[in-house]
Amino acid sequence: MKKLYFGSNLKMYKGIEQTKEYLCRLNNLLQNIPEENTEFFIIPSYTSLQAAREVCNSGKIRIGAQNMCWEEEGQFTGEVSPCMLEEIGVRFVMVGHSERRHIFKETDIQENYKVKTALKHNFTALLCVGETAEEKEAGVAVETLRRQLKIGFSNLKESDAANVWVAYEPVWSIGVQGTPASAEYAESIHAEIKKCLREIFGENADKIPVLYGGSVNKENANELIIQPSIDGLFVGRAAWNPEQFFQLINNALETIKHTS
Ligand code: PGA
Repeated sequence: MKKLYFGSNLKMYKGIEQTKEYLCRLNNLLQNIPEENTEFFIIPSYTSLQAAREVCNSGKIRIGAQNMCWEEEGQFTGEVSPCMLEEIGVRFVMVGHSERRHIFKETDIQENYKVKTALKHNFTALLCVGETAEEKEAGVAVETLRRQLKIGFSNLKESDAANVWVAYEPVWSIGVQGTPASAEYAESIHAEIKKCLREIFGENADKIPVLYGGSVNKENANELIIQPSIDGLFVGRAAWNPEQFFQLINNALETIKHTS
């Protein structure tokens, strides 16, 4: 069975106490899942990170940050440095989530600075990519994704592939207004992403997990996870209740066991 990844970005939801409670419950539930070939991660708010790290110290859940500055220190009001994340034991960072790109106008170049800084600090960087509805309609989805990947990962060594992950999250599929991508569409795009990653990282690209995100829920998770080019699910709303997220993960693992 291929290695499977399941994670959630908690966005600007759940304060410290709620995050701790969520993680304790999820951690307990995940004890029922055999260790091998699965990886779990949660990306809480900044203020909850330290408490989250403490709760997950001995558990199965990797804790990540939602964003990070590309500089280590300086006059960057409101930003958080990689050194500050290191100080609290966080070595996993998400870069370029659709909401960062579209609401906060982050650019591919900025995402590249962040990826490079993350790698310099031996972090794992999860780069999110995704086309808008307009780009999809105009038939340039793949071009958009190739640009985001080629710029986002520019000036990296092939060996850096060991420390990068990718999440494909079409902008039109994210959040309450989103429509999930069909498994067929997601698979075809994931195959293109993997092809592009091979151009960037050579054979090392095969180590990079490519996760699907955008309105993943208990109805579509099983169909998505069995696609050959989908290595995991990056879940928003449907993961914010620990019992429901656990159920989704468990069903997905059962499905894949019976199809592989
Ligand atoms: P959603 O969020 O599952 O609630 O659509 C996905 C995401 O933004 O990562």
